[in-house]
Amino acid sequence: MSTKTPRHIAVIMDGNGRWARQRGWPRSRGHLEGAKAVRECVEGCLDLGVEVLTLYAFSTDNWQRPKEEIETLMGLLKRFLIEYTKEMGSMGVRFEAIGRLSQIPADCQRQIEAARKATSLNQKLTTILAVNYSGRTEIVDAVKRVAMEVREGTLEVDQIDSELFHQYLYTSRWPDPDLLIRTSGEMRVSNFLLWQLSYTEIFVMEKLWPDFKRTDLFEAAEHFAKRQRRYGGV
Ligand code: FPP
Repeated sequence: MSTKTPRHIAVIMDGNGRWARQRGWPRSRGHLEGAKAVRECVEGCLDLGVEVLTLYAFSTDNWQRPKEEIETLMGLLKRFLIEYTKEMGSMGVRFEAIGRLSQIPADCQRQIEAARKATSLNQKLTTILAVNYSGRTEIVDAVKRVAMEVREGTLEVDQIDSELFHQYLYTSRWPDPDLLIRTSGEMRVSNFLLWQLSYTEIFVMEKLWPDFKRTDLFEAAEHFAKRQRRYGGV
């Protein structure tokens, strides 16, 4: 891995619905093809030597979608975990998930747990699925945990700083993303990793997510390598 290779890439996989609509197909077909593009992305990260990949699979706002579409997304997630755990597990991929997981269907929760367990010793690439995730909810959950510790007397208010707060986030075990990729041209972070993206380089591509190929990941990584990160300095 070169020093300019991002250690952690986060991805907002946008445009599945538009991709399907352009072809006169149901949205579910867009999500199905989107799940295939996930494979391209994971394999591309393995090729590059990326350590962590976080994928925005389902946001807390996605519950507003039609019931049918939610069922498709949860079904795909389950199928993805069953199929890819074995296959990608053997390539050194470790699966993790973040979000309010207790609110998703029980069979999906079980599959996430099984994937975590089966791949827990893998070290090449950690793929984190953000499911029933939102950045604000994550921060609220962290604040509640901090407040509880203060109330119980195990934490002093003066001890609270950015580094300590990071330990209460869902992503406490991983470095912040170096690079955020968003497909389908939208210039928004959409409630994704709000705390962690503070100094992340953002790369937006016009392509819709189902068309995403590993070469797109390489292109984003090349752009990243040319950026100068100053973290507020000069
Ligand atoms: C955005 O497209 C995508 C999602 C809301 C979900 C992402 C899900 C997948 C890529 C498939 C399943 C994922 C895994 C990990 C197996 P959109 O529906 O908002 O597209 P639109 O903006 O064009 O309508």
